[in-house]
Amino acid sequence: MSYHPDDMARYIYTTFNPEAAGTKRVYSTSEVYKFMCAKCHGINAEGNPEKRGPALNDYTLHELEMELINLDNEGFQSSGGHSELMRENLNRIKKKGMTYHPEDMASYIYYNFNPDAKK
Ligand code: HEC
Repeated sequence: MSYHPDDMARYIYTTFNPEAAGTKRVYSTSEVYKFMCAKCHGINAEGNPEKRGPALNDYTLHELEMELINLDNEGFQSSGGHSELMRENLNRIKKKGMTYHPEDMASYIYYNFNPDAKK
């Protein structure tokens, strides 16, 4: 049982503090994936050629974490073009209030969709 302090703070505040009414609701990692990532990467992370979204179900947990942490750190690696598309996507996603922790998203994708995780 572990949690991110900022998630827990948000959870307690928005759930129990009456003054929080009207505060933006918090989306779970699985909701963010279904609403924001599935259309390009597939509902089971199998990829979606129509949107040119690659499959994510063959990445290891470590690879997913690295990719997502890199995408999260704008300007951190400017390795030319490769992730520009995803970075733009992520910025748009975050503006809608759909945020997530890279480690949580990596675990979510890995444990739900990678067949190797079930071995
Ligand atoms: C509009 C379509 C679209 C959406 C929405 C989208 N992606 Fe992507 N994603 C792509 C494309 C295209 C690539 C490959 C191109 C690239 O590398 O920039 C990619 C690449 C990735 C990669 C591999 C890293 C890389 O650069 O190769 C990861 C991990 C990823 N996406 C995760 C996500 C997650 C998590 C979400 C939801 C929060 C998401 N994507 C939403 C289209 C999308």
